[in-house]
Amino acid sequence: MTTQVVSSIEEMRTHVLLARRGGESVGLVPTMGALHKGHLELIRHAKDECGRTVVTLFVNPAQFNQPSDLDAYPRPFDADLEACSSAGVDWLFAPSAEEMYSEKPLTFVDVEGLSDGLCGPYRPGHFRAVATVCAKLFAAAPADRAYFGEKDYQQLAIIRRMVRDLNFPLEIVGVPTVREPDGLAMSSRNVRLSPAERQTAAVLYRALEAAQSSDQTASRVLVSIARHVIASEPLARVEYIEIVDRDTLAPVVTVDRECRLALAVWFGKVRLIDNIAIIPR
Ligand code: PAF
Repeated sequence: MTTQVVSSIEEMRTHVLLARRGGESVGLVPTMGALHKGHLELIRHAKDECGRTVVTLFVNPAQFNQPSDLDAYPRPFDADLEACSSAGVDWLFAPSAEEMYSEKPLTFVDVEGLSDGLCGPYRPGHFRAVATVCAKLFAAAPADRAYFGEKDYQQLAIIRRMVRDLNFPLEIVGVPTVREPDGLAMSSRNVRLSPAERQTAAVLYRALEAAQSSDQTASRVLVSIARHVIASEPLARVEYIEIVDRDTLAPVVTVDRECRLALAVWFGKVRLIDNIAIIPR
């Protein structure tokens, strides 16, 4: 099937509302393009659970902290459209920046607390921009369910909370991270790694697994286990490694409930994030 490309908010909303009025459920997969197997997994879940599927493709300038990161972001539109068609996506919503931000916005969504830790301090304004653009995408494509990957765990927690706090009438579905055979989490940023960095980056999953399989419960010890594994790779520069509560994302001293170990690590100019569940035995 050929996916229909839609660039106007009005037209996108009409398609979704007509489908829902006709009794079909609609699944939404928000992306910034450069679709990889992780995105295809989100699409697969959406298609399994909903009658119609919308993928959104908008490289949101406001959520980039460095202009160089925005400029370097891959934009393979034809390949993305092809991937959507092969996956049986009904609509690819690809608005221009002018369509999304026709005037300078005065309204923003700030999910306090959840945005403060982990990536928050290193990416000022990032989560406000993500929450705001997701609110706009939910308005443009008022679907029944929206699908987000667990790789961006903090983003997923923030969007869940925004939907709850603001009573958005849609369900947020978190989908487990898809990994390369060596464990590296799928990410649009992986293509920017040099061959040596790419090989080294598999250390992240080894570090997460080492912490997860330990029977220690002190966060300090678990973090040092992960840090020690990563230290074996000189190309890796740790930004943070933390253990937080699964829901509130508040730092945890002792793992006495399900938590999440999350990390951000630089390989050259590329910043990768990943996370894993830490469950007390
Ligand atoms: O995860 C992403 O690709 C982006 O942060 C999102 C959710 C599409 C918002 O721009």
